[in-house]
Amino acid sequence: MDRLVIRGGRRIEGSVQICGAKNAALPQIAAALLSTKRLELANVPEVTDVDTMLALMREFGVVATRGPGRMLVLDAGAARNAQAPYDMVRRMRASILVLAPLLARFGSARVSLPGGCAIGARPIDLHLKALDVLGADVDIESGYIHARCKDDGLRGGRIALTLPSTGATETALMAAVLARGESEILNAARDPEVCDLALCLAAMGARIEGAGTHRILVQGVDALHHARHELITDRIEAGTYAIAAAITGGHLEILGAHLEHLGSVGAVLESAGVQIWPTDRGLMVVRSGPLQAIDVVTEPYPGFPTDLQAQFMALMTIASGASVIRETVYESRFMHVPELGRLGANISLQGSTALVRGVERLHGAEVMATDLRASVCLVLAALVAEGETTVHRIYHLDRGYESLDCKLVQCGADIQRVAG
Ligand code: EPZ
Repeated sequence: MDRLVIRGGRRIEGSVQICGAKNAALPQIAAALLSTKRLELANVPEVTDVDTMLALMREFGVVATRGPGRMLVLDAGAARNAQAPYDMVRRMRASILVLAPLLARFGSARVSLPGGCAIGARPIDLHLKALDVLGADVDIESGYIHARCKDDGLRGGRIALTLPSTGATETALMAAVLARGESEILNAARDPEVCDLALCLAAMGARIEGAGTHRILVQGVDALHHARHELITDRIEAGTYAIAAAITGGHLEILGAHLEHLGSVGAVLESAGVQIWPTDRGLMVVRSGPLQAIDVVTEPYPGFPTDLQAQFMALMTIASGASVIRETVYESRFMHVPELGRLGANISLQGSTALVRGVERLHGAEVMATDLRASVCLVLAALVAEGETTVHRIYHLDRGYESLDCKLVQCGADIQRVAG
């Protein structure tokens, strides 16, 4: 298993190009199953989660061809209604996103339950409830979801989500676009990735209004057509590089980033003493003065994203004062805390709340990545730790960041990727 050897103390400076959003790519790849015509996606990141989703799509006979310039052409014309097997679904929870398109296209679907992961149980009850409302019978038997349309296809309905789940909103959208009649999704997630999925579906011929608000209306259509869509850029990647510049006291232009996609992150970083402003190419981030400890609560978009919680915690480990970080989206997203402790951070946990007392400096050590965002948090801390840090199991990192180590080296970091 590859590892990264990082020598701290170098400022992150210059500019970095961010990629298309992983969490926009995954639902849009699944959405290709809704149509017998080609779907061309541009700006698809080269990360292993996308590879995993493409492997699953090939199980259904989808022809997926990557082209130059991060183009991906998906042809589900000859797709068949195969089963989404446990050994593939357990590798990536987002595999559940194929359930709705399979059901809408073929009238039935068999998909393995995803199981939990390092950051919590992550149930899918809201996905299944949405399909039930749209006229599907859904049973769970021997670890598989069996869904089938009661009539000769899904019919429109009113889906009231008990919480603004990103994935459940995406499941509801993909089921509703081919359902007969009108569907209403209430308490919908407002993430940019949900809006981008709606734009992609609209390019395919779907009729959707209200994406990005809590209430989305969908008029079902009989069929979708050929489309080409360019993914939005990755706001979590952008936030990660912003924190890389902030934690090292550097200055970085993040090309392709959009301040509004960062929700409250811009304001939080500014309160911590970081300057951040839009440029015509993206975002500029500079930190020249002291870092202030700031409290943060993770919330659904446009609140502070849970996917930046670990990265922000790394920043707070060297801020002056104490920061209270409360994780409200997942029940256990603090796997990075003991590893940050090995680097000399002073963090105490009380349930879903972490108290981070800033320290003078961190010291290099051997640390272990446990999940995607925890692994990048350790890389950020290592950039500013004195001496050498080795981050093990960085396959977690490669799931969601394209060439992170190379991009950081180009911005001045001292990082070596060691194979084996
Ligand atoms: C998406 O996951 C993202 N993944 C996650 O990013 C992100 O952390 C999460 O949204 C929150 O922003 C993708 O988009 C592929 P949720 P998702 O449904 O859709 C509970 C990363 O690092 N819930 O909004 O699975 C759930 O347990 C990943 O890139 C139910 O209770 O998240 C969680 O506590 C990690 N029942 C909360 O809602 C359900 O049916 C938010 O989950 C569904 C969710």
